[in-house]
This record gives sequence, C-alpha cells and structure tokens, in this order.
Amino acid sequence: ACMDDKWTDYILDSLDLDESNRQPIAGKPPAGAEISAETIRRYFADNIYPFSERLKPKQYFEEKRELQIELVKLQNWIKETGNKLVVIFEGRDAAGKGSTIKRFMEHLNPRGARVVALEKPDQRESGQWYFQRYVQHLPSAGEIVFFDRSWYNRAGVEKVMGFCSDEEYQQFLVQSPDYERMLVKSGTFIIKFYLSISRQEQAQRFEERATNPLKQWKFSVVDKEAQSRWDDYTQAKEETFRRTDSAEAPWIIVKGEDKLRARLETMRYVLSQFEYTGKDQNKLGTANPLLIAPVKILTN
Ligand code: ADP
Ligand code: AMP
Ligand code: MLT
Repeated sequence: ACMDDKWTDYILDSLDLDESNRQPIAGKPPAGAEISAETIRRYFADNIYPFSERLKPKQYFEEKRELQIELVKLQNWIKETGNKLVVIFEGRDAAGKGSTIKRFMEHLNPRGARVVALEKPDQRESGQWYFQRYVQHLPSAGEIVFFDRSWYNRAGVEKVMGFCSDEEYQQFLVQSPDYERMLVKSGTFIIKFYLSISRQEQAQRFEERATNPLKQWKFSVVDKEAQSRWDDYTQAKEETFRRTDSAEAPWIIVKGEDKLRARLETMRYVLSQFEYTGKDQNKLGTANPLLIAPVKILTN
C-alpha cells in the first residue's frame, strides 16, 4: 500500500496536479442534452462546475495526445505561412496558467515556440512606456508565443496590490484595446484566456504550494494576499472584461477547477481558430460550452 501511495504521488507530480485532485469535485452536470445560452450564462455566473467527477488520467492522456499532434501541425502551418500567434494566459494565482502552457509546449519545436513569464518590472522598465517591455517578446513571422501573465498585470495584480497609480491604471484600460488592435491589424493573432477557479480551490492549491517542495517556488508574497483580496480581484477581473474585450481580441473564459479538462479545452480552442494544413476535425472533438466560453456571450 505504501508503494501504491508513492506511485500516486509521482503521477500527481508529473501531471502538475495538486492534492485537491484526489478530492471529488463539487459539480452539477446539466439536465438534458440540450445546452441553451441561458444555461451557459447561469453555469458561469453562479460558478457551477458541469461535472461531479474529475477527468480520469487515461482519458486525459488519450485526448491530449491527439490534440498535441494537431498542435504540431498548427505550428508547421504557422512556420510555413509566416503567421504570428500570441496566446495569453491570465487568471488568479494558482489558476493553472503555467501548467497549461507546459502542455502546449510539450511536443512543439522550441525553435518557433516560446514562453514569456516576466519578472516584476525593474527600475529601468518602470520608467518606460508600459507596453514597451512586452513588445520585445512579441512573435516574429512563423512564431508562437505563450504569455504566462501579460500586460494585463496592470489591470489585475498591479491594480489590486497598488503597484501602479490610478492614472496609469485608467490609461492602461484605454490603451490596451488600441494596442491589441494594432497588433491584430498588422498580422498577429491574439488569443486571450482567463482561467477561472473557485476561492476554495485556490486555498487548497496554496496549501499544497506551501508544503510540496516541488511547488514552493510558486508561492509568493503576492499569493499571500490573493485570498483576502478575493473580491478586489473579482472586481478587477470584471472591469478588465468590460473594458478590454474586443472583436479583434476577445476574452475566453475557461473553468480551471479541473486542471486536466482546462488544458484540453484551451488546446482545442486554439486549434479551432485556424485552418491549418492537414487539420483532422475528428481529432479535435467538441468544446464543452459550460467549460469554455467567450466573455461576450456571458454578458449579453
Ligand atoms: P506568479 O503568480 O505569476 O507566479 P506572483 O504571484 O509572484 O507571480 O506575482 C504576480 C505578478 O505580479 C507577477 O507578474 C509579478 O511580476 C507581479 N508583481 C509582483 N510584484 C510587483 C510589483 N512590485 N510591481 C509590479 N508587478 C509586480
Ligand atoms: P474567477 O472566475 O477565477 O474570478 O473565480 C470565480 C468567481 O468569479 C465565481 O464567483 C464566479 O461566479 C465569478 N465569475 C467567473 N466568470 C465570470 C463571468 N464571466 N461573469 C461573472 N462572474 C464570473
Ligand atoms: C498559476 O496559475 O498561478 C501558475 O501558473 C501555476 C499553476 O500552474 O498552477
């Protein structure tokens, strides 16, 4: 039994899962097969998870493999056509941004796919135009860049923790859509994901970070405040959606409560946005609209 426990630990580690993944998930599958727009809005507004069980690793591995094969095709297509792709991951601390990006990167050619996870701005950077330090990491022709947090720091952590002035914050909300519009119009695709988790799930993941030596580096000063400032973060998030959701660069909300499902849904979504060479629609499967939805349909 002792050895079995060890193996379970190793598997959870290798999947970047937390202890909470051993607990059942508090969810409620929708009644009936038909999922109306009203049901979607309700499931998101009331934060109801649409499954009462976590995804089984076996199914996860099967689906992940198919989606990763498609991602390789997408990368080839991006290289051949010289397109540029930015995928932004936002969400509260411990939402699963880094571990999701890791699965995107897993089988991609590192020549042409990068992760950008910037430190807090240093003194020099603080004196620059806010977007400047991000600009230098944007993709060139044929490249995919994953942002683990992004310029949206200003509307989230900087706003909530008081790391920027109110004027800087207001200016950001105005400039950000313009900045993104410029990028899109000049040939960069932008996908913006917001990974959403519940307050309890975040608390459990923090607990794990504090005790698991593989995860301790993830636990920061900022994290310590995330629970007590939960409502401030919620407000900041809603304002971000209200001000920066645009036709050119819409926000996509992903339920992150079950990490494995969230990874599959984000991969599927990225693939669904392109008609790359050799695309196998059957391998993509179908998105679960109660797990992933554009902000626009939730607020209409
Ligand atoms: P993460 O959750 O991304 O692992 P942290 O929780 O430590 O990182 O911090 C969240 C974000 O806040 C990071 O992007 C970090 O750079 C930023 N940050 C932390 N301190 C400051 C600060 N003083 N000014 C601006 N940004 C900061
Ligand atoms: P998070 O989404 O990570 O901020 O945490 C979940 C909390 O935000 C829950 O209380 C949800 O009700 C709420 N929430 C998540 N997405 C949305 C949305 N699109 N509109 C309104 N509330 C939301
Ligand atoms: C986060 O979302 O805070 C990090 O990227 C770590 C994680 O993968 O949970």
